[in-house]
Parts: sequence; structure tokens; C-alpha cells
Amino acid sequence: MKLEQSAIREILARTDIGQLIGAYVQLRKRGNDLVGLCPFHAENTPSFHVHPDRGFFKCFGCGQGGDAIKFVQLLENVPFPEAARVLARRAAIPLADESPEAARVRGEKEQIYAANELAAAFFQRTLRLGPEGAGARAYVERRGFSSATVEAFKLGYAPPGWDGLVRELTANGVDLRIAALAGLVKSGQHGFYDFYRARLMIPTYSTTGEVVAFGGRALDDSEPKYLNTTTTPVYTKGRGLYALNVARRAAAAREALVVVEGYLDCIALHQAGFTNAVASLGTAFTAEQAAEIRKYAERVFLCFDADAAGSAATAKSIDLLGAAGCSTFIVGLPPGDDPDTFVRTQGAAAFQGLLDAALETYGSKFLVDAEIERVLASRVSPQQSAERVAAYFREHIPPADADRLQSHAALRLGVDENHFRRLVRPLAGTHFAPRGPSRHVALAAEPPPLGREILAALVDEPALVAEYAERIGPEVFREARYRDIYRTLCARAAELATTADVYAAFGEDREAVELLVALQKPDRSSKVRFGDSSARRAHLDRVVAGLAEGRLERRWRELDLKIDEAFASGAAVSQEERDEHRLLGEEINQRRAKRLGTK
Ligand code: UTP
Ligand code: MN
Repeated sequence: MKLEQSAIREILARTDIGQLIGAYVQLRKRGNDLVGLCPFHAENTPSFHVHPDRGFFKCFGCGQGGDAIKFVQLLENVPFPEAARVLARRAAIPLADESPEAARVRGEKEQIYAANELAAAFFQRTLRLGPEGAGARAYVERRGFSSATVEAFKLGYAPPGWDGLVRELTANGVDLRIAALAGLVKSGQHGFYDFYRARLMIPTYSTTGEVVAFGGRALDDSEPKYLNTTTTPVYTKGRGLYALNVARRAAAAREALVVVEGYLDCIALHQAGFTNAVASLGTAFTAEQAAEIRKYAERVFLCFDADAAGSAATAKSIDLLGAAGCSTFIVGLPPGDDPDTFVRTQGAAAFQGLLDAALETYGSKFLVDAEIERVLASRVSPQQSAERVAAYFREHIPPADADRLQSHAALRLGVDENHFRRLVRPLAGTHFAPRGPSRHVALAAEPPPLGREILAALVDEPALVAEYAERIGPEVFREARYRDIYRTLCARAAELATTADVYAAFGEDREAVELLVALQKPDRSSKVRFGDSSARRAHLDRVVAGLAEGRLERRWRELDLKIDEAFASGAAVSQEERDEHRLLGEEINQRRAKRLGTK
């Protein structure tokens, strides 16, 4: 609904800014002005001025200033139209030229708000004073909620009878059909009866201060544990966030929101000083909630229960929050705890510790770790694992997070970081003609040959040592132990005719001999054994070819990186280098295809 200029003028004309601000800030009269401590920055001497005649405020400390709508915007952290509506409602100004239908709906909504407000007050009174409220008072106390908390969250109690609320509403002239629309009463064979009975009542407020829904918790183990308002003309389940009306100022100040699952988790956190906590109410997090959150904070600490449902909810919420533009951090509760039990038993400092630790487990990392776990569990080759995780990066991880997560992922997958980065990089920069085929080079890269396999071939047929010593350097062996053995073999190549000669050459070195014997053991699960001389030669030839490829590939990567950097910085790359890059890519692909027997 668009706000008419005339409506805005009327709102401002009919709002007494002194009275409005006076409800939030203690103001003293000074001449024609009112003066007080600025609500928008911390100060000890008043520099916040309100000019009721002229309808505006100004702080000479922090510079904030404006009209009444601006004040509500700043204080409540809401956008202009919402602030205007808050004031319009205060001044009972109908907005825009309403159709009769729109007016009827607005009227109906206003009546629902009024019924909810009356119900909330009735529940509160019953909890505070009612003889029926004794059990609920004991329950609240047992759960550790102070009377200040009960007051702040307007907790109440719905009495066990069937008509307590019905009678209260009727006495106040509320149309019970409206109360039924609000979800407060139901109509049965004998008329309307109370929907909530013998429950601790938790009202949900909109950010503009109306009671829009209730949650009612059973005081014992009876089912369902919670009875909630579902969908009414003023509330859609899964759209709002519980306690956002209270949390948003703290959220704006701390630039962060803590999101928990349950009502009482949220209230317990507020009581412990985490006044930027809200509850998503159940595990089905929605895009609407994510969008709502983004209005108030960019950083979100997700603190869902440490069970399967909670972790599924976490993964889904990270996606939704990421799409809404939030950075998400995952708070790791110990299994079996929820925020309420944790903060009650471990204290606020311990919970703050969890929040601090969560900065290390931002949402993307949670997702990547979960994906890595899945991939590793599927026991595919390192290369395939890397490709799968890389694909996951491209699909789910925002670029800002991806950058710092790639080394983490590469490390966990046991693959080279640069190699992994290349796998992840989306097919960008297509105006570089060479990129297409070249990219495939990196995708097809293989883990280096295993030293064990080379040694096994040589021990089987020691005459091959002399033949390959020139072409296979000791640096091929990653493990120092194998590298040393290979060096010794090469040094004594001339003496080695049989496997027995090899053992003799290491006679004193028991450990080396054992290693070599182990390589000779028939082991069906290993590819180490070679049937005959031609199989051994074929293997060593593949190693040699792979080494040559490795050299080509290193040069190709060097050029590839240079071209990428040039692309990013706008610098030039010579045509020779581009040609070399392209030719190398083709050469590597051909060699690999030949080596793998696909050509
Ligand atoms: P939990 O079962 O974790 O409850 O449900 P809780 O908030 O920790 O409550 P206590 O500590 O047992 O009293 C989390 C949230 O899921 C919704 C409620 O919003 C609840 O706060 N829920 C749960 C329901 O709507 N209905 C239910 O029957 C159970
Ligand atoms: Mn709980």
C-alpha cells in the first residue's frame, strides 16, 4: 500500500513529537525545547533536543535528527512505511483511500488485535494472581524464569476451564466470531469454548507491537507439548520470528541475531543477557523468516538443537539465510542440550563462549564439512572426492566464503590446494579462448604415482633399476624411507641381478629389508604385484610419462595462473604465452589420453 503525501502530512500534524519521544526518553524542558539523553548513542550529558513546535528532534552529540517518523524508524529499526503506519495507528488515521473491502479487512484485523490484547492481559492476570495459576507459577519458577522475565515477555496462564476466556472476552464486548478468527476460541455444539486450557501462554508480538499469536505450553507431559496459533488474518505460521519485537534493537546494536528453535530457549537467553535472541518456532525455517532477519542483522548465529532434525534444519537455514544475504555462524551445543538447558546449567559466560567459537564455524564451513564427510564415507578416489566437493562449492558456497574454505577442504581431502582451487573455479572468463580445453587438464589431473609400486616392480626385477635410474628421479618418492631405498638401489644398480641381491644390499638395514619383503607379499587387495616383466615395464613407463606430464602441467599451471591474474587485474599477457598455454593444454590432454589408453 502506497502512502499518500497527504496521509504523511496528517500523521506528522497529528503526532505530538514531544509526547512520542517522551515515552522513550526522559525529557526536561529548556526554553521552548525538550532536552534529554540521546537514545541513539551513549552519553552522560544531554545533547538530545526535541522541538515540539517545529516537529523535529536533533542530537548535537551524534548528529541524528528528523521528524516523528524518522524517530520511530531509528528507534524501532523499521523502514519508513512501517514507521508511518505505527504513527498512523496511534493517531487513528486511516491510510490511503481504502476500498470498502480493504476497510473491512483492516477493521477485522484491528478487532483481532484487540481480542488478542485482551486475551494476553487475561492470561497474564491469571498467572500472576489467579488461584488457578498456582501450578503455572510453580512451573515458571521451576524452569528458572524470574518475575521480571515473566513480565517482559508477558507470559500468562490459560485456566483449565472451558469458558474462562470466552467470558472475559464477552464481558469486554468482543465478538466471539472475531475471537474464533483469532484462534482464541473454537465453536462447538454448545457454542464457543476456550482453545487454550491449562497452558502456560506465550504471546508473539509483531514488530509494531500487536499481539499476533500465542503458543501454549502444557505444564506436564501431555500432548501436544505446544498448542500454537496457526494461520489467521494477522498471522501466518512460519513467517514471523518470536521475540523479534524485543530483540531487534539489540540486534541492530550488535549487528547480529541469535536464532533458536523454541520459545523458552529464546526467553532463557534473554534472561541471561542475550537480548538479540529470536526463535524460529520449530525446525522448518522459511525464506520469509530469512528475509525478515536480514532486515535487522547481517550476522546470524544459528543455535538449533544438536539432534538430527536440528542439523537438517541448520543446513537448510544456512542456504536460505545465505540467499537472503546473511552470514551464518553455527553454535555447537553439546548433544542433549538446548539453549535453555545449556545457559541455565552452564551460565551466560559459557554460552558466550559458544558464540565466540561459532565465529569459526560459519555456515558455509558447516555445509562443506558435512559434504566432505559424505564424500569421504562413499570411499571414492581422492580425485573423484575432490571433484564432488568442488561441484558442491560451485553450487552452494558464496564466493566470499569459498575463498577461505578451499584450503580447508583441500587439506581435509588430502589434495593439493591449487589443484582443488582449479576444480572449484567456475567456468568464468570464457573470452579466454584457451580456457575451455585447458581447464580439462586440471580436471583430469591424477595423484602422483605411488612409490610402493615403483619399488615393487624394481625388487621383482632388479635389472630394471639400471634401465630406469636416469628417467625416474628420487624426488618422485614422497616418503623419505622409500626415497632412501631407491637411492641405494640406484647407487648399486650394477650389482643387482636378482631379488636376493637386493636383500643382500640392505643386509644390515633390517627395517628396509622388512619393507621390501612386505612389498613382495602377495596381497590381492593391492595393485602392487606385477605378473611379468612387460607389466612391470609398462608400469614404469607410465611413471616416466606421468613425470613428463607433471613438468608440462606445472608449466601450464604457471601460465594459467598468470592469465587469470592478468584477467583480474587487467594486465596484458603476451600472445606467445597464450599460445604456449593453449598448446601445452592440448599436449597434456593428448598424452594423458594415450597413457590412459583412451586414444
Ligand atoms: P522443543 O520440543 O525443543 O521445545 O520444540 P522447547 O522449546 O525446548 O520447550 P521445552 O524446553 O521442552 O519446554 C521447539 C519448538 O518447536 C515448537 C515450539 O515452538 C517449540 O518451542 N513445537 C514443539 C510445537 O510447536 N509443538 C510441539 O508439540 C513441540
Ligand atoms: Mn527446551
